[in-house]
Amino acid sequence: MAVEPSFMEYEERIKEGDTVIVYVTFGQMVPTVVKRGQTLMMKYGALRHEFIIGKKWGQRLSATAGYVYILRPTSDLWTRSLPRRTQILYTADCAEILSLLDAKPGMVICESGTGSGSLSHAIALTIAPSGHLYTHDIDETRTSKVLEEFKLHGLSSVTTAVVRNVCTSGFHVENSADGVFLDVPAPWEAIPFAAKSISKTRGGRLVSFSPCLEQVQRACLAMAAAGFVSIETIELVPEQKKIVSQHKQTLEEFETMGDAYPKERKRNANGEVVETARVSTAIVYPYSQPTHTGYLTHATLLAVPE
Ligand SMILES: C[S@@+](CC[C@H](N)C(=O)[O-])C[C@H]1O[C@@H](n2cnc3c(N)ncnc32)[C@H](O)[C@@H]1O
Repeated sequence: MAVEPSFMEYEERIKEGDTVIVYVTFGQMVPTVVKRGQTLMMKYGALRHEFIIGKKWGQRLSATAGYVYILRPTSDLWTRSLPRRTQILYTADCAEILSLLDAKPGMVICESGTGSGSLSHAIALTIAPSGHLYTHDIDETRTSKVLEEFKLHGLSSVTTAVVRNVCTSGFHVENSADGVFLDVPAPWEAIPFAAKSISKTRGGRLVSFSPCLEQVQRACLAMAAAGFVSIETIELVPEQKKIVSQHKQTLEEFETMGDAYPKERKRNANGEVVETARVSTAIVYPYSQPTHTGYLTHATLLAVPE
């Protein structure tokens, strides 16, 4: 049986209507819905969609001025290439959020705000095929855009996108969620509603993303007031490291050679090459990296005993 275009299921070969991620370079990936008669223009020239149809996922294809790779969409590749309408959460943060929500297939999760749908895709693909994501945004255009994307990506059966101010009107479902995630400017206003949306019989998790500590302080007070326990905050500081082999320098060598190390240390005063010890070590690389992305405050609402 033919599989409908979907991020959840896929056939071995690419069909018309599939969303593909065209990998051009490390910094350029273009999400494209494959349609006969259309041509993708990018850094390596033109690529007619006809050439993509029937090819295997991951295959390298020749465009008019270079090669590209046709990748199957995952939530990570979608996050890296999606059309941005707001600030978004990146994969490292999404992974931490999913872990703190204890998200797994079959769970019901409420999210606000939807924004560009970056985290929404990560949640939807984690709780699928039997769970459900209710995502809420105050902005109608963002909600309708993400609804279109859910449909195109075959995620409609596991998602509901709602236009709603969660700080004044609460969530679409009450007494049924296993987890709530907040990425809104005043999370403390939405926290009493988050408590209402969580299942009384199963209890659930709440995770709130905030860029600054003042928001965290107010969110923690609101969580305690709404009955949440085990309230903790972590700071997200991703740092990329690289293992390199470096010359090992003793203190004595440093005192005699100073800054000349390691350039001049390869030859001694007689011009003879000196073997230098090398040691494997981890350095921060690239040297300049964005550090703090935000704080995640997480807490548990216990089930109410019958
Ligand atoms: C930073 S964006 C969320 C980005 C999203 N996490 C992502 O990964 O794409 C914040 C969103 O919250 C929405 N928002 C702000 N206040 C809200 C409220 N009270 N109720 C619902 N949505 C709200 C904004 O319209 C905006 O789209």
